[in-house]
Amino acid sequence: MINRHVPVMINEVKSFIPINKKINLIDATFGGGSYSKAILEEFNIKNLIAIDRDPISKIFFNELRKKYKNIEFFNQKFSKIDELISNSKYLNEKFDVIIFDLGVSSNQIDNAKRGFSFQNEGPLDMKMGSSKLNAYEIVNSFDESKLSNILFELGEEKHSRRIAKNIIKKRTIKPIDNTKELSDIIKKSLPFNNVKNKIHPATKVFQALRIYVNDELNELKIAIEKSESLLAQNGLLIIVSFQSLEDRIVKDYFNHKSGKRWRSSRHLPDLGDLGPITLKIITKKPLRPKDFEINSNPRSRSAKLRVAQKI
Ligand SMILES: C[S@@+](CC[C@H](N)C(=O)[O-])C[C@H]1O[C@@H](n2cnc3c(N)ncnc32)[C@H](O)[C@@H]1O
Repeated sequence: MINRHVPVMINEVKSFIPINKKINLIDATFGGGSYSKAILEEFNIKNLIAIDRDPISKIFFNELRKKYKNIEFFNQKFSKIDELISNSKYLNEKFDVIIFDLGVSSNQIDNAKRGFSFQNEGPLDMKMGSSKLNAYEIVNSFDESKLSNILFELGEEKHSRRIAKNIIKKRTIKPIDNTKELSDIIKKSLPFNNVKNKIHPATKVFQALRIYVNDELNELKIAIEKSESLLAQNGLLIIVSFQSLEDRIVKDYFNHKSGKRWRSSRHLPDLGDLGPITLKIITKKPLRPKDFEINSNPRSRSAKLRVAQKI
């Protein structure tokens, strides 16, 4: 299988990885393995643990495994990161670097059968791996207010009510079967100006459904906290996010753990007094991709990279 994913901000990610010692590293979002491959080629790696909830990642991992024996793959959700390590032979290891490159890979988006993209007609699936439900079930069975709340909260879609109303109207005639039908309903629900916008009118709704199907925000909240406990002293947590809800979770967590006890949005739960200061923020502001990267890989345009160090 050909890896279609172009890694985002790989040079920036690599620039934080220590070069002067042998390190343990977790690539918590292995995807097509481009990060892991580049890291194995350029750094002195003791063990590299790869995690991805999508079984297709195993195919890319097996390719890499032909060349490197000090690597291991877990086909699991990263919220289980602590159990995976404690039930493995790495139980007594601490990690110098843990990387999250969030969201979906091009291997997932570009496969119409996975239903992630409004550009290609496909079933309303959107599951990254095993999830309790898929997008079809949400779109065809959730009540109007629940649907509208999901679109508003997870997609930050201003027209959520109108879109939810139109989804309900359509599905009473026949179930909404595929990404194209859904995308057409969204387009018809929006004012003309939105349809002419640079970003596709279905972007926010598709984002909301994907986040809900894969429980992405909870996954991230749980995984960040667990990862911190797996880090060695001076170990680095490197996180690349692609939308503001994820970035806010990372920013808030880093701020709290480094002593700035405030939250970036009043809509987020107050993390309270989280006890001792355990992290130092390395990137005062998030790094963004350079123009040449955005031009050659438009999918990188919303990326933000943040790094914190365990103290
Ligand atoms: C942007 S891609 C990573 C690309 C990777 N860095 C590369 O170079 O190919 C994100 C990957 O994270 C995986 N993923 C997202 N959420 C996950 C979770 N909660 N647990 C495990 N894997 C997850 C997705 O399945 C996807 O393969």
